[in-house]
Amino acid sequence: MTILDEAIPISRECTWVGRHDPEAALQCNAYLLMDGDHAVVFDCGSLPDFPVVMRKIIDCISPHQILAVVASHHDPDVCGSLAVFEDIVGRDDFQIVAHSRTLRLLSHLGLRGAPYAVDEHDLRWTFPSGRELRFVPTPYLHAPGAIVTHDPTSGAMFTGDLFGAFFPSDWTLVADERHPDAMKAWHQAYMPSGAILRPALNRLAALAPVRLLPQHGSVLEGPKIAEAFAYLGALPCGVDLEPAEDP
Ligand SMILES: [Fe+2]
Ligand SMILES: [Fe+2]
Repeated sequence: MTILDEAIPISRECTWVGRHDPEAALQCNAYLLMDGDHAVVFDCGSLPDFPVVMRKIIDCISPHQILAVVASHHDPDVCGSLAVFEDIVGRDDFQIVAHSRTLRLLSHLGLRGAPYAVDEHDLRWTFPSGRELRFVPTPYLHAPGAIVTHDPTSGAMFTGDLFGAFFPSDWTLVADERHPDAMKAWHQAYMPSGAILRPALNRLAALAPVRLLPQHGSVLEGPKIAEAFAYLGALPCGVDLEPAEDP
């Protein structure tokens, strides 16, 4: 048993509830954000990860306090467990918060939760307290319906696959000096091009996040944030690295 087998507080309101797999190069992060007695989960994870993710949530709160899952996009590592997740939450008003392009695909999971399309709600979702979450569409990074969530109250930014990283060994929850290079292979393989990536990075940087919480890799804080934006802003990826077609 290590510390990574437990839920780990990242800030006063945000807790890491992902599953650490020491055998995997790609760690999947899930995050619990509290607002008073209510909570939202970001990218609840895959079916294999579900028992660990839900056990960590139950160590923190009653699942019935979870009002919604925010899905950054439709991949199985992001929300493959949604059908069982919503059963454990057991709320009639449970919401699945995502872009309409994502929700169209998630409908094939046979979900009962109410779809909440952020692009049809002014890119906002509101807790009962009035606290708002805001969403930034990042289309094609790497999914057509990809979104990043910004929590203006805390400055946290839940970035989905953006700022993700591979760690062949010795993964750490909080980024260390290896993180820029660890992001390289992930973005080069999964992001479509620097031309699509760079404008999205500029939109996100303009919000001046104080913490980046990616679905893979490590949490970025302090000077690591500007360093990561600068690194990815100069990184060729996707089709940039494909051989040119014959004339
Ligand atoms: Fe993905
Ligand atoms: Fe992912």
